[in-house]
Amino acid sequence: MPVTLVVGGQWGDEGKAKIIDYLAREVDYVVRYQGGANAGHTVVVGDKRFAFHQVPSGVLYPQTASVLGGGMVIDPTALVEEIDALAQHGVEFAGRIHISDQAHLVLPYHILLDCDSEDRRAGGGIGTTRKGISPAYADKARRDGVRMADLRRSPASLRELVTTRVRENNKLLKLRGAKTLSPSKVVEELLKARRRLLPMITDTRPLLWDAVAAGKRILCEGAQGSLLDIDHGTYPYVTSSSCSAGGAAIGTGLPPSAFERIVGIFKAYCTRVGNGPFPTEDGGRAGAKLREIGHEYGTTTGRPRRCGWFDAVAARTVVKINGITDIALTKLDVLDAFAEVKVCTSYRAGGGSVDVFPADARDVSAVKPQYEVIRGWEAPTAGKHLDELPPRAIAYIRRLEQLVGCRIHLVSLGPERSAMVEMPLVRGARAGL
Ligand code: IMP
Repeated sequence: MPVTLVVGGQWGDEGKAKIIDYLAREVDYVVRYQGGANAGHTVVVGDKRFAFHQVPSGVLYPQTASVLGGGMVIDPTALVEEIDALAQHGVEFAGRIHISDQAHLVLPYHILLDCDSEDRRAGGGIGTTRKGISPAYADKARRDGVRMADLRRSPASLRELVTTRVRENNKLLKLRGAKTLSPSKVVEELLKARRRLLPMITDTRPLLWDAVAAGKRILCEGAQGSLLDIDHGTYPYVTSSSCSAGGAAIGTGLPPSAFERIVGIFKAYCTRVGNGPFPTEDGGRAGAKLREIGHEYGTTTGRPRRCGWFDAVAARTVVKINGITDIALTKLDVLDAFAEVKVCTSYRAGGGSVDVFPADARDVSAVKPQYEVIRGWEAPTAGKHLDELPPRAIAYIRRLEQLVGCRIHLVSLGPERSAMVEMPLVRGARAGL
């Protein structure tokens, strides 16, 4: 049974949770493979709204096990709070949440270092979520990290390890003139979280290998988006992990050959939160209208998102990086109120045409997007069925398929679970690469 992988196709916030929730109906495992509490997913079920940061949203289905993979950096205290909130909403998860012992911990000094780096950077910094993500990955790469496996140590041994780490980081924080931490407070807080998390910590790799061998259905979810990938995104305006498809093998322990279906999630327009180049950003009325209608405010930080038009150059590049086999297009209904919808078909730079999203952020800043203007459908699509969709809305979807060179399989038309349309494959459309 092949593993399905879901990746964000833009700068995060593409509405992945909604698609994951839809695909998770039919799976046995949902697996996160990178990132941490920087992610924010909202799933609406009836009158309940669930905000996910670290736990895969598949936990809402009683038959689905949730795995927090080894590529993640996990804030233990925030994870316990998230699990408690699920319990308060009546979600029964005993024995269904598995945390990789390879995952690294985000500890309070990572958060202080993240905030301090942001405050020091000129020009507003990277615009991180201030959740300690980059210092935690830096410690991992420096081999100074504390992992979930360390929570299996005796309390005395864990106390010794964490006290040493806090003292080392206090020196660094002091040098920078930032607030320092009490080692004993950090240890006590961690020991409290440890009691709750210990039964869930395991080597999740054999769990997943056995699941594949037994023909179980596995869905891996990437957080953030391909244009925030540490290697393929607009460096340094990126997150610190591999959010594109390549990171899924590393962050789960499943071999690359296991991933047969790779679903790319794209919003019908573009948004970005945080700093960095965004060629199709609309700083005018259209952008403000997209923000208001699309409720484009961050789930994690509440920041207003920068908004703009669909960028087919970036999307084509993202399809290639990830090997996307089919696309889920989200929030199409947000465009219902527009008389004209713009799509960027190519870039111009240095007197020539640019057909690939540049690898260097400065080059991305220099491109001039070239737009095709499409007549809007100006009719409601929210919650509609395929045969009720206005022909011009269908034409928009088909035009994006052509420009991106990949099949659009699912179209989401509102936050409700039921607001989803499956598009029939048209003859001549390319399904993936
Ligand atoms: P960090 O991941 O907190 O270090 O933030 C680095 C960049 O990624 C910033 O521009 C953030 O706004 C952005 N970012 C991180 N997580 C998300 C997400 O889940 N959605 C959208 N942007 C994100």
